[in-house]
Amino acid sequence: MLKICCIGAGYVGGPTMAMIAKKCPDVEVTVVDVNERRIAAWQSDDLPIYEPGLDEVVKEALGRNLFFSTDIDRAIRAADVIFVSVNTPTKTFGAGAGCAADLQYWELCARRIREVAESDKIVVEKSTLPVRTAEAMERVLHAGDHGAHFEVLSNPEFLAEGTAMADLENPDRVLIGGHDTPSGRKALQTLVDVYAQWIPRERILTTNVWSAELSKLTANAFLAQRVSSINAISALCEATEADVSEVAHAIGTDSRIGPKFLRASIGFGGSCFKKDILNLVYLCESYGLKEPADYWRQVVLMNAYQESRFVTKMLRSMFNTMAGKRIAVFGFAFKADTGDTRESPAIRVCRQLLDERAAVTICDPKALDNARMELGDAAERVRFELDPYKACEGAHAIALLTEWTQFKELDYERIYASMEKPAFVFDGRNILDHQALYDLGFEVYSVGKALKSHYVS
Ligand code: UDX
Ligand code: UDX
Repeated sequence: MLKICCIGAGYVGGPTMAMIAKKCPDVEVTVVDVNERRIAAWQSDDLPIYEPGLDEVVKEALGRNLFFSTDIDRAIRAADVIFVSVNTPTKTFGAGAGCAADLQYWELCARRIREVAESDKIVVEKSTLPVRTAEAMERVLHAGDHGAHFEVLSNPEFLAEGTAMADLENPDRVLIGGHDTPSGRKALQTLVDVYAQWIPRERILTTNVWSAELSKLTANAFLAQRVSSINAISALCEATEADVSEVAHAIGTDSRIGPKFLRASIGFGGSCFKKDILNLVYLCESYGLKEPADYWRQVVLMNAYQESRFVTKMLRSMFNTMAGKRIAVFGFAFKADTGDTRESPAIRVCRQLLDERAAVTICDPKALDNARMELGDAAERVRFELDPYKACEGAHAIALLTEWTQFKELDYERIYASMEKPAFVFDGRNILDHQALYDLGFEVYSVGKALKSHYVS
């Protein structure tokens, strides 16, 4: 029986391993983590992350061929294949601070594997890493005179949060990079055989290790670049009365462009886009490629502009003062259907609102605990409210920051009646029915569309 161990029971490691265990009953999967609470939660009815469909998959395999443990050494020793899925955040210190990936956890894992392994292992990079990290890892793994052989593969994960289970069950492609050597080819085949148990072989792409590593960064950079591009156009739409949804639809029907990732918004968030682009920027810079570095950095700068532009618009339209005014913030997660708030544009937007001394109430069906943590000391000045109707009582404005379906289905007539007048709606995701809101009496602001105001002609 093939034994897989995964170090890191986070958003990536947990769901990915649960899916492998579900689809491959003949493979034993053990997920380990230094965080005891997280491991305990994975074994309970209250999983540590919210992901539609995840509960069922974990329940099906838990205790059968899916195990969670804090005994990292034991799991490493027993495994044939070790996935490393620990976090690789942007460095906050030293060389490359604010840009480069912090590889300390990854390297610690590699050292641990070398120390405790007693037999040959396939070590799989699941975390997103700079190109040529595998080379450094191989050196760490083979330092000294270890009797065992470690074969490093790169198998980046393309799942998106909120749709992780569907993405894992039916991915566009699985990408595995390995070395073109006998042991590299053998390791690659071992991993291909695992995925081939439920994914058509033609969707399993194999490349060299460096291409796999770079493809992950490039995929995220391209996706983020599309969001920044349409957001740049949204600013122009507001100035010219073009409608960004119409423009997006018009260009998206060109089969060369395609319709996805063209939704104008307050900006992209999530643990990957910004981190991976900055990582790419740092890589370009370290190879002396200034223009490519500047090109990709602009995608991140555009995103920050979009966030602060949103708050500026709120301020200007609310007569240049928000001090003491109550703002109901609809949504704090970085996108719908997740409780994840990492790099959520809502963090910066709420902080800017607090800087303006607005009285902020945050309402989100899944992300209130994370929102509290994310805001740190500033959380003391914020009200957290699960019920959107209560959040709006006496409010001057609604700022919609996450596209949760439930916000579309509210009784806005009731909400309007309970708010201060003039009542403003700032739809940062363009999901509400703007004409209907306007007809109810709201002042309606959206991203990349003309303002709907009862006062301005
Ligand atoms: C992480 C990376 O952020 C991302 O770059 C990569 O693509 C996949 O892995 P994610 O699963 O979202 O993504 O991270 P997170 O939810 O923070 O999970 C990482 C887990 O690793 C945490 O539970 C942490 O406790 C654990 N960890 C970290 C270890 O077990 N050992 C360590 O040394 C460090
Ligand atoms: C992304 C990639 O899609 C995934 O392949 C990779 O493995 C991890 O990073 P994720 O961060 O979970 O996944 O979410 P994604 O759906 O890509 O959205 C990222 C951000 O962009 C969100 O804040 C989302 O709201 C925003 N977005 C997306 C837009 O603003 N407009 C769009 O049209 C699409």
